[in-house]
Amino acid sequence: MNGVKGMDLSQGIQESLQGLLEVSSQANPVEFSVLTQFLKGDNLDFGAFIGVANPDSSNPYGRQVLVNTPALEVMVASWTRGMVCAPHDHGGSLGAVRVLQGRARHWMWRCEDGQLSVTHEETVEAGGVMSCGANLIHSMGDDGAELPLVTLHMYTAGIDHMVVYDVQGERTLVVDGGCGAWVPTAEPQMIRHEGQGFLSPKAVR
Ligand SMILES: [Fe+2]
Repeated sequence: MNGVKGMDLSQGIQESLQGLLEVSSQANPVEFSVLTQFLKGDNLDFGAFIGVANPDSSNPYGRQVLVNTPALEVMVASWTRGMVCAPHDHGGSLGAVRVLQGRARHWMWRCEDGQLSVTHEETVEAGGVMSCGANLIHSMGDDGAELPLVTLHMYTAGIDHMVVYDVQGERTLVVDGGCGAWVPTAEPQMIRHEGQGFLSPKAVR
């Protein structure tokens, strides 16, 4: 299937992604409303996406990228209990996230005048969909429901880079789009550049 990472995918996932890939072949990037329509609807085999979750206990979540084209990125995140990701943006891409399993805790942040602060906090149950605007800074974690958190992420364009805030170290990092939303201590080559203090995404790019 064009644009899908070389892996054996179940028929459920192949059929689910086929519709999206057809749309993405006609529009670059995919329209945001199309993604939310897919994520809020019942056309996708959500159980099949849970089946490809790729846990990684050394990081806040394990990534399983299913599609990465200039027009569209699709990723399943399998969250580690007791860890939250770092506040980050998506390099200008629009995104939407559906909770497939478990319950998410979701924080929205503002970076202004050198200060990083939470503006909103919510919990999102399985079936809920979060929208991530182009300027959103957010973070997420597993909220401790019975089943561990698994989320399905879709972005309107392949993510080239992200701004990630190192809250403890008070640094602003620009990391490669292939990096997760954390300080890549084990893979420092993922850091494209960094600034001291908390800088707005516009200031650091
Ligand atoms: Fe994100």
